[in-house]
Amino acid sequence: MLDKKILFMLNSQINKEFYSSYLYLDISNYYYDNSLDGFGNWFAIQAQEEYAHAMLFLKYLKNNGDKVKLDAINAPDNKFTNFKQPLTDVLEHEIFISRSINDIYAFAYEIKDFKTMQFLDWFVKEQGEEEQKAEGLCKRFDLFGSDPRGLYLLDTELSSRVYAAPSLVI
Ligand code: FEO
Repeated sequence: MLDKKILFMLNSQINKEFYSSYLYLDISNYYYDNSLDGFGNWFAIQAQEEYAHAMLFLKYLKNNGDKVKLDAINAPDNKFTNFKQPLTDVLEHEIFISRSINDIYAFAYEIKDFKTMQFLDWFVKEQGEEEQKAEGLCKRFDLFGSDPRGLYLLDTELSSRVYAAPSLVI
């Protein structure tokens, strides 16, 4: 069984990952509502990825014989005023998630919980990629998003994203 504080932190992370999934689904709806189906598709897949992240944390607790406590998931309260705003919000959110995972990692290190550190290694790397993806989207939107033709091409490109399950197996 896991240390009580680590257990609390990992339980909270489950909620944060489910919230991320909710947030991205909300963003996906926003883009679909505005006929940017490629962006809608990209974020619907991102929502699936976040759901999978939550399930990995959940499974890790189960594998350790610990009890999972599912908390209420906050409703996303985004009121977007332009197409760029969700992308900036996503980057901020991913930085917040990275910090949260780093905090768990730091505490696991402090109490010499090497098993949890090893489990989190994949997430540390994944967060680096998530931040990079979000930053990339922001940059490309800045380059092409203000021109209707550029926006159309970017949207078409994002429509080709398909879901791939996380490479981490626990
Ligand atoms: Fe699972 Fe994007 O953090």
